[in-house]
Amino acid sequence: MTEIKVEIKPQDNDYKIFIGYNILTEIRKFIDKYFSKKRIVLLCDSNIKKIYKDIITGDLEISKNNIFVFPKGESSKSTKMKEKIETDFLNHEVDRNSLLLTFGGGVTGDLGGFIAATYYRGIPFIQIPTSLLAMVDSSIGGKVAVNHNMGKNLIGAFYQPKAVFIDTKTLETLPQKEYINGFSEIIKTALIRDKKYFIFLKENLELILKRDINIVQKMIKRSCEIKAEVVSLDEKEGGLRKILNYGHTIGHAIEKLSNYKIHHGFAVSIGMNIENRIAESQGLISSMERKEIEEFIIRSGLPVKIPKNIQPDDIIKKLKYDKKSVSGIPRFSILKGIGNCLFDIEVDKTVIKSSLNNQIL
Ligand code: GLY
Repeated sequence: MTEIKVEIKPQDNDYKIFIGYNILTEIRKFIDKYFSKKRIVLLCDSNIKKIYKDIITGDLEISKNNIFVFPKGESSKSTKMKEKIETDFLNHEVDRNSLLLTFGGGVTGDLGGFIAATYYRGIPFIQIPTSLLAMVDSSIGGKVAVNHNMGKNLIGAFYQPKAVFIDTKTLETLPQKEYINGFSEIIKTALIRDKKYFIFLKENLELILKRDINIVQKMIKRSCEIKAEVVSLDEKEGGLRKILNYGHTIGHAIEKLSNYKIHHGFAVSIGMNIENRIAESQGLISSMERKEIEEFIIRSGLPVKIPKNIQPDDIIKKLKYDKKSVSGIPRFSILKGIGNCLFDIEVDKTVIKSSLNNQIL
């Protein structure tokens, strides 16, 4: 089992990301060592409950009255669902002496983490991500949130987990489309921070898509290291952490406008392509680099163009609700070469518009 430390100040908020194959039994050992006096409750969606019910009651030793289930899908990431689960917790006398396990994909981690952040003014939680996207991105770094009608992740908190357990065996039940969805965030981590890693991804794409376990473990480890490093340097996104939003300014707007029919990673890959066009027009990346990235994204099975039913003007309108916007003016995190990313970049509306207009399917 590999361990990566996420350093959060004050120091006693540090935690570890554990990565390995078939490590769910280690979670119980960890709980028995550090949280033996707590009541352990688990939150998961209906799909995970169906697939993992024996593991939840077996390896994780969670009793039936401590398992809380919500309907799968992005629409559950809402204040309404948060309140419903909190009411369930209260009805089942989940108290402040409880530890919450969030077992599932990004929706579960974000929703459950936000419940943990506010329930009885905060109870500890452990992330057990089962999707590639949650493993390399949303389970690490303490961003927990629900969506608002006006935009994605607008209501939330920074609330760090006590540990993250990444069991790569759980990827075996992940549909290929969801796997590729997560791969988009992996491409992002390489592009913003590590050119050599981008080359590694390019050279090993076939094995990655076939889910060769050795390559997959290496890839997850490197992406987690990058995320942990960035979060350790800037937990609350005062500056550097904004680079993790590369591709997301445009991506979130597309995701929201599609009513979440376009999944996060797919919207982000379109976002990366559009934002690379903006970077090219500002002289920050060469046309060769932009094309190299675009070709790689396409080879991975991810989209680069905006679907016809989404209008560039609507994307521009949505940008003012992006969390990085200042007084309604969007700020971009854009590449300066492969492996390096700038943040807080204001871009002229005409540049955004022409980059969008050229990229409709
Ligand atoms: N997913 C972006 C971040 O954690 O900052």
